[in-house]
Amino acid sequence: MNEKKNIFDIDPWKIKTNQLYLKEHRLQESLTSIGNGYMGMRGNFEEKYSGDSHQGTYIAGVWFPDKTRVGWWKNGYPDYFGKAINALNFIKINLSIDGKEIDLAKTPFTNFYQELDMKRGVLLRRFQVFGVEIKIERFASVDFKELAVIKWTFQNKDKKHHCIEINSSIDANVENEDSNYDEKFWQVLDKSSEKDGSWIETQTINNPFGVEQFIIAARQSYVGDFSKTTQKQEDFQVSDTFIATLEPEKTLCFEKRVIVTTSRDYKDSTEVKQALEELTDKVKKQTFEQLLFAHEQEWENRWNLADVVIEGNDESQQGIRFNLFQLFSTYYGEDERLNIGPKGFTGEKYGGATYWDTEAYAVPLYLALAKPEVSKNLLKYRYNQLAQAKHNARQQGLKGALYPMVTFTGVECHNEWEITFEEIHRNGAMAYAIYNYTNYTGDDSYLKNEGLEVLVEISRFWADRVHFSKNMGKYMIHGVTGPNEYENNVNNNWYTNTLAKWVLQYTIDSLQKYLREDLLITKDEKNQWQVIADNMYLPFDDKKGIFVQHDTFLDKELMSVKDLDASNLPLNQNWSWDKILRSCFIKQADVLQGIYLFGNDYTMEEKKANFEFYEPMTVHESSLSPSIHSILAAELGMEEKAFEMYERTARLDLDNYNNDTQDGLHITSMTGSWLAIVQGFAQMKTWNEQLSFAPILPKNWAAYSFNINYRGTLLNVRVADKLTLLKKSGKDVLVNIYGKKVVVKDKVEINLG
Ligand code: BGC
Repeated sequence: MNEKKNIFDIDPWKIKTNQLYLKEHRLQESLTSIGNGYMGMRGNFEEKYSGDSHQGTYIAGVWFPDKTRVGWWKNGYPDYFGKAINALNFIKINLSIDGKEIDLAKTPFTNFYQELDMKRGVLLRRFQVFGVEIKIERFASVDFKELAVIKWTFQNKDKKHHCIEINSSIDANVENEDSNYDEKFWQVLDKSSEKDGSWIETQTINNPFGVEQFIIAARQSYVGDFSKTTQKQEDFQVSDTFIATLEPEKTLCFEKRVIVTTSRDYKDSTEVKQALEELTDKVKKQTFEQLLFAHEQEWENRWNLADVVIEGNDESQQGIRFNLFQLFSTYYGEDERLNIGPKGFTGEKYGGATYWDTEAYAVPLYLALAKPEVSKNLLKYRYNQLAQAKHNARQQGLKGALYPMVTFTGVECHNEWEITFEEIHRNGAMAYAIYNYTNYTGDDSYLKNEGLEVLVEISRFWADRVHFSKNMGKYMIHGVTGPNEYENNVNNNWYTNTLAKWVLQYTIDSLQKYLREDLLITKDEKNQWQVIADNMYLPFDDKKGIFVQHDTFLDKELMSVKDLDASNLPLNQNWSWDKILRSCFIKQADVLQGIYLFGNDYTMEEKKANFEFYEPMTVHESSLSPSIHSILAAELGMEEKAFEMYERTARLDLDNYNNDTQDGLHITSMTGSWLAIVQGFAQMKTWNEQLSFAPILPKNWAAYSFNINYRGTLLNVRVADKLTLLKKSGKDVLVNIYGKKVVVKDKVEINLG
């Protein structure tokens, strides 16, 4: 059942605990993941741990096309399912004290403490074994992307000498738990043991799909009080062994620095290895403190811009900071070739690197919390994959472009028919993000130069995918899956039809504004789009005054989630798929997702009627769901519901609401807590290029504040007993507050409405 399961203490800046969770170890590992946008890893222990564990280290943009595995092959399926693959395990050590191997699943220990310091981006662990206290600090540098540092401090707590032995390795014998054919994806190209450490170079195995093979090389070097004894090379591993005697009451340090380079940044094996050496030399000159300081400074810069401060509620505070920390650890917009995978560097599930989540959920946050180039790069990422999107449409026998549900290159690599073929609403999110960027930034250069081409191809897709119903005299879209994946093959999903209609109209309007003759759109084609847009069927129920999720939704046995015994939840872990599909229960915002996107087009009465009808049937078993509900509830003045949904989105992983965080964190939905605060509680809108706020203050908070970057103006928004807008830099800005226009020149203070 959906009960909160919080294994870490409540703290505004830290994820900390005094417990080693044996049964919930995977959950503990997920929640202590770290990353720097280039690489990252789960909170695996460095030393041997023989208990249940999911070992995972990932390098952004490195993936493998795993052969598709399905029961019955259906035409149109992609040949492979791309997977973010487990990379070399470079944190690995074997540790022994006085000849006894340390393995916390077996070795008796005391004083366990683990802490992820989100302010500094440092993972720390401490415990005592055989009279020695061991402290381990680890970070993936956000200042030096190829660098990961681990430092062990051994403190003798008794009067005896202790002999400490460390065997430090880089291990390429790793696997993906979700590998379709139990294949391992790495082969070793080269390795070497040298005076200052050792390195190994690997390459992804051959694949029959012509997909680029990636090279990763990793090199370990050391600093500290230990002496090297032996070095060893095995088929898939290089290791260096060190030894030291720990005198009574004394302390010893051992630091492992790892540099990771890949063929994504360097052209071939020679360059990858050369860079490995050069970068190792570069960090050699710096102390641990210097490397850490540069890393901490960069986190401080990020927090200075992005931190959301919630006063009077540490639980809520921890939630939003955890989300921002993990989101930025995954993606901070430095590399335009990358995108935001649903699991980031924290697990394997979901395979791909890019979902519609990026456009629908991440773009709005990056628009306000990063340089405009970052959101523009996210849009360009899709522009660069337009050819592949056209290929995807062709695979379905359709014109135009169909953006993929899951991808690395733009080619669809998801292989469940109800999603690959049917969850086509994703195409609408691509177009919406173009609108969102243009409307928020006021910069129409992307729309004019690249976006229009994308819009035209998406419109061509919709124009081919609809059919005309003579019976109703309307255009319809049959056989789809809406955002609610708990129903498939439905006809006239209101959300999908609404988006298709909107995309066609937005494309026509934009073509009117920006002449792009090179796009070769005929008058007939445009006229046809207009006819479709004007005559799109949008299911509506007069009696209930609601938009109908799809043609037969109201014929279902309608009931509320509250009518179910809690033991049924989450449904996806307790019910057969057949039972789920036939039920009325909704996985995530569907009609309400549309109302959220086009919030300016609906009246409060319409919003209320739909919210009150759909929300009680929604189980929020997609992490993307609660934030949208929180935003709408706040707008509708349903403060308690808005707060409940905020907690659910902000603490989804920390409290393991959906009982699946052990598989990895829900990275893309981590924008949800920020959206719930900024677009929900503060009601920040930018309809028709007008910035507006209409804040409410949840009753269990004393205050909250955040920054937004709006068209070059950095604005601090604080909501307490009053709303305070403080211009931190940039031009004066005209803001609509509770319907009244105010120019923020310096500071504006207004009573809450
Ligand atoms: C959701 C999708 C989402 C995907 C990745 C699924 O559970 O239903 O909407 O794109 O997760 O986050």
